Amino acid sequence: MKITFCCTGTKPEPWLAGLRSALPGAEVTVWEAGAPAADHAVVWAPPQQFFDEQVKLKGVFNIGAGVDALLKLRLPPQATVVRLDDAGMSVQMAEYVCHAVIRHFREFDGYAADIQARTWSYRKPRERAEFPVGVMGLGVLGARVAQSLAQFDFPVVGWSRSAKELMGVRCFAGAAQFDDFLAATRILVNLLPLTPETRDIMRLETLSRLQSGAYVINVARGAHLVDDDLLALLASGHLAGAMLDVFRTEPLPLEHPFWREPKITITPHTSARTLRDESIAQIVGKVRALEAGHAIVGVVDPVRGY
Ligand code: NAP
Ligand code: GLV
Repeated sequence: MKITFCCTGTKPEPWLAGLRSALPGAEVTVWEAGAPAADHAVVWAPPQQFFDEQVKLKGVFNIGAGVDALLKLRLPPQATVVRLDDAGMSVQMAEYVCHAVIRHFREFDGYAADIQARTWSYRKPRERAEFPVGVMGLGVLGARVAQSLAQFDFPVVGWSRSAKELMGVRCFAGAAQFDDFLAATRILVNLLPLTPETRDIMRLETLSRLQSGAYVINVARGAHLVDDDLLALLASGHLAGAMLDVFRTEPLPLEHPFWREPKITITPHTSARTLRDESIAQIVGKVRALEAGHAIVGVVDPVRGY
């Protein structure tokens, strides 16, 4: 069995070593133009030339959860495209989002500023019931995040394409219930995949439907958010702030106004990192399953876009 590795921006050696040790007998190499046809590919942001040449692939394993960039390419029609299914990401995402929600709810930035000014002062405790959190996307990451927030006794609502039942989470589904979901939300968390249906989903019209003084946490993709609309709603006071991990252009260009807006906290696309050992173990298990003709989870539906 031949496995080709084509991951832009990723040091290949430790991946090759891990894949070789878990799949003894497999030939695992870094892709280069003109390389012989492989059976499976491990990819992140490969060039179109990769798929134009690797036309016999059975499995294409994306070393991330989001496949929006991959699905822009022309892929071999017979290949099964597989995304990372948690692989250590959901706990990181839960940490990041719970941190963001609690930091905002408990006004820790305000306390940090007070301490910086050598001021010992108390703020009136806020009512948790007045800060319902709405999680858009209740998949592998969103479900874990929503349930982690519920553990802190926040009222939690969630929204997905198909109807769900999650303990501690009031679930809404489909376009018909989107407005009700927004109206029930004060802290909005985005964990949707980027698809033609979800692009620009956080825009003036939708963000205006959130409860007054809302807070936005975007940990999915930058193109879900219309940047100017976020800035306008921060200026009007409808939104109290935002914590953003993903941007339309990454790295965020230095001239972008988000750098200078004090109500926005930015992090460099780090909320849930790909963990190498967990990812290799998952990919190897799925390569073996595909070779044996077994079904696997995490298969991407190219029509649905995730
Ligand atoms: P997932 O398991 O595929 O879950 C996606 C969820 O979104 C599902 O609940 C799905 O509904 C829902 N959804 C999709 N389209 C929808 C629509 N049009 N309307 C309503 N709901 C819709 O994905 P995941 O593993 O949780 O990952 C989510 C995203 O997080 C990834 O696509 C990626 O962009 C992002 N991500 C970011 C980072 C980071 O470091 N910032 C790391 C990893 C992932 P159904 O359940 O009904 O299908
Ligand atoms: C990261 O953004 C991922 O999609 O895994």
